[in-house]
Amino acid sequence: MLSQVMQDAINEQINNELFASYSYLSMAAWCEHKRFIGCAHWMRLQSEEERIHALRLHDFQLARDGQVVYQAIAQPESDFESVVEVFEKALAQEQTVTQQIDGLYELAFNEKAFAALVELEWFITEQVEEEKTAREIVHKFNMVKDDPASLLDLDRELGQRVSEQAGAK
Ligand code: FEO
Repeated sequence: MLSQVMQDAINEQINNELFASYSYLSMAAWCEHKRFIGCAHWMRLQSEEERIHALRLHDFQLARDGQVVYQAIAQPESDFESVVEVFEKALAQEQTVTQQIDGLYELAFNEKAFAALVELEWFITEQVEEEKTAREIVHKFNMVKDDPASLLDLDRELGQRVSEQAGAK
């Protein structure tokens, strides 16, 4: 059984993951509105991944006989300067989530919640990958700058992302 402080912290992280999901959905909407259809597709899949992260913690909380308490999800940003800014904000969001996961891991360590430590290792590894991916995309946008042909190519490339749920990366 998880301590109350651990349960509260996991519920908070469920909310953080759902906020990330919501935020990516908002980014997807902005991208599609601006006709960056590939970027919108990428963001939509990312939103789905975040929802799955939340569900993973939901399942873990229940498996440890904890109580899942859902909280209100904050309003995400809906207006952006450019498509580059969207991905810069995505990267910043991932860096924030990494800090949140690190904090949760530290708490689990102090609470001697060993099963939670094992579960959270998956999230730590996932954050390395998510930050890396976002950083690489920001780098590509910075190289392309305002060149329309290259932007179209990059949008097409991002549109080829497939769902990890489909068993492919
Ligand atoms: Fe679930 Fe991208 O952090």
